[in-house]
Amino acid sequence: MQKIRWGILSTGFIAGQFARGLSVIADAELVAVGSRTQASADAFGAEFNIPKRHASYEALAHDPEVDVIYIGTPHPMHHENITLCLNAGKHVLCEKPFTINAHQAREVVALAREKNLFLMEAMWTRFLPVMAQVRAWLAEGKIGAVQMIKADFCFRTDFDAQHRLFNPDLGGGALLDVGIYPISLTAMILGLPQTIQSHVHLGATGVDEQNALLFGYSNGAAALLSSAVRTQLPYDALIVGENGHLYIPDFFKAERVTLTLAGGNVQTFEFPHKKNGYEYQAIAIGDYLRAGKQESDIMPLDETIALMQLMDSIRAEWGLVYPVEK
Ligand SMILES: NC(=O)c1ccc[n+]([C@@H]2O[C@H](COP(=O)([O-])OP(=O)(O)OC[C@H]3O[C@@H](n4cnc5c(N)ncnc54)[C@H](OP(=O)(O)O)[C@@H]3O)[C@@H](O)[C@H]2O)c1
Repeated sequence: MQKIRWGILSTGFIAGQFARGLSVIADAELVAVGSRTQASADAFGAEFNIPKRHASYEALAHDPEVDVIYIGTPHPMHHENITLCLNAGKHVLCEKPFTINAHQAREVVALAREKNLFLMEAMWTRFLPVMAQVRAWLAEGKIGAVQMIKADFCFRTDFDAQHRLFNPDLGGGALLDVGIYPISLTAMILGLPQTIQSHVHLGATGVDEQNALLFGYSNGAAALLSSAVRTQLPYDALIVGENGHLYIPDFFKAERVTLTLAGGNVQTFEFPHKKNGYEYQAIAIGDYLRAGKQESDIMPLDETIALMQLMDSIRAEWGLVYPVEK
């Protein structure tokens, strides 16, 4: 089988996690890394045994030995980085949130389609085996029509105005960084909501440190979602249907799901990761590229745009505008 040759753009936390995930895929090869500095590219290359170590993102984008580039920079850089890679003829997998807003998302999606290149938001959660099982159960009506979803991605970290989680220049705030997880899970199951209500706390740097969302659907379904960077909650998701419910602990990186059926039958199913969970989106991309696809059916580009638009509308209610948007 044709090996997919990957390049990684950036050398931070999530770039390392992605490199670890790639290491267990037999038909994927991590051939190059690109960083803003040679020292960082060299250190990352040495840690993950990557032969080509570029001192700029441009050099990585133009490396003829790379098929697809994974982007792990802070969100305000995604638009520029995706554009660079697509213009250099590379397929792209870009971290969530895909861009800062829907306008940026539309631009890069249009460019990928014009160039017939693959592009996807790295919503790795959707590619986990647990989520494949959840989708299959819901499709066969295992718990009946879904009436309610509860999901939270809330953690408490020390306040640091310069850190990307708090710094508006780096796209700080809970909604874009982690709120996208419960939102994307809900959209995968119920689609886009007809009504949205929200509560927010904007912190000292002006970004959302915690928020709570209530989505309403015309069929009566609802979703209660939250995200935070200064408040700790369990990372649970609960999907409640007419005939039972699904409980997914640590849903964003899930390895198990408990199915409870009306009548009391309770079963827990285990889906241990091959490595760290980041491998499944990369395996899917290998399959897409070998099949000549330019888009994922599990995380479609139009849905990525719609979810960016949804977060734009929530931020507009809060008056949260990032410097890159001014
Ligand atoms: N999927 C997940 O589970 C997950 C988890 C965490 C984060 N993320 C997402 O991944 C992205 C990066 O998060 P991270 O935690 O990996 O961040 P990080 O540790 O700060 O790393 C970001 C990297 O981006 C590059 N970069 C380019 N311009 C930068 C700038 N102006 N300031 C800082 N770094 C810059 C740097 O690499 P070079 O120095 O090599 O150029 C840096 O190491 C975010 O969009 C975040 O939402 C996803």
